[in-house]
Amino acid sequence: MTALVRLKSDTNSLDIGQDHFTGLEKEFPRIRFVFPGSRKEFTDLLPEADLVISWEFKAEWYGKAPGLKAVYTPAAGADWVEQDPSGRVPVFHGAFHGPLMSETLLGLILYFNSRYDILKENQSQHVWDRNAAGDKSLLSEQHVLIIGYGRIGSHCGKTLRSAGCSVTGLQRKNKDGVDQSTGVRYAAFSAINEELQKADHVVLLLPNTPETRHIITRDHLSCMKSGAFLYNLGRGSTVAEEDLVWALEQKVIAGAGLDVFEQEPLSPSSKLWDFPNVVILPHISAGYRAYGVLFVSELKTRLQQFLA
Ligand SMILES: NC(=O)c1ccc[n+]([C@@H]2O[C@H](COP(=O)([O-])OP(=O)(O)OC[C@H]3O[C@@H](n4cnc5c(N)ncnc54)[C@H](OP(=O)(O)O)[C@@H]3O)[C@@H](O)[C@H]2O)c1
Repeated sequence: MTALVRLKSDTNSLDIGQDHFTGLEKEFPRIRFVFPGSRKEFTDLLPEADLVISWEFKAEWYGKAPGLKAVYTPAAGADWVEQDPSGRVPVFHGAFHGPLMSETLLGLILYFNSRYDILKENQSQHVWDRNAAGDKSLLSEQHVLIIGYGRIGSHCGKTLRSAGCSVTGLQRKNKDGVDQSTGVRYAAFSAINEELQKADHVVLLLPNTPETRHIITRDHLSCMKSGAFLYNLGRGSTVAEEDLVWALEQKVIAGAGLDVFEQEPLSPSSKLWDFPNVVILPHISAGYRAYGVLFVSELKTRLQQFLA
């Protein structure tokens, strides 16, 4: 059985090399792991592939791989590995990002809640102002709304609850309820306008799909409580960049922590770079030195299930 592995990335923490597979090669002697050096070599080998383990897979490649039985990818989002148009080959996405993204989100919320944005700006101007962050409140007095309360959103909810916040998560499928294990309240996406009015921090963790493109509008941003902050760790396509710029210029939102953008990399000419109350992350909220170890550990379980 042949598994084609192509997990190269320009981002060091996401570059999962052959060395990560030593344990799997011993664990699964029936599987021959092959590491094509280039994209061309990878696509040339597709006719022999039983399994693919990759950051990327194009819809048209399924036709070149008649023996393909499954595709495994570290990515949680469905952007880089396209679905099989025939529906024959299942795709398994990484499901280990929750703890990584939760810490990034918690850091951003603490940053804005402590008004480090204002204090950093004062520092750059050599201003000693002990009133700059004096109106800060505790996380236990803060309410967070997570829009896209899926696998990652629910982990973020659990982390924020343990930090003292109250949390509501919006999903499409579930109506009102409370997650008994964490105390996170959940509601349907249709309640978004009234939920936006209650939150001190609004977190977007939505996927990139035709339905979610620009799903968050200026009207939604206008519903946000005065002084509330916005975070986008899901996908940039869910809110138009010009609407974010508008909301910041009009002070409709107090600030934003942004990891994902409509155009990536973010253009050097984007206005978003220059707001003192915006933190720009280069799509690295899941970055972690042992990212490859987490992926391979999850893959081991999935390969055991596949062979069983
Ligand atoms: N920034 C990064 O580095 C990074 C890393 C990993 C993932 N991500 C992004 O995070 C996203 C979420 O990942 P996940 O693993 O948590 O996915 P997930 O478990 O599928 O959760 C997605 C959530 O979005 C909701 N949703 C989907 N389509 C919607 C729509 N049209 N309207 C309203 N709600 C909708 C889903 O509601 P239902 O459950 O009701 O369907 C669910 O609550 C990924 O798709 C990816 O794009 C980003």
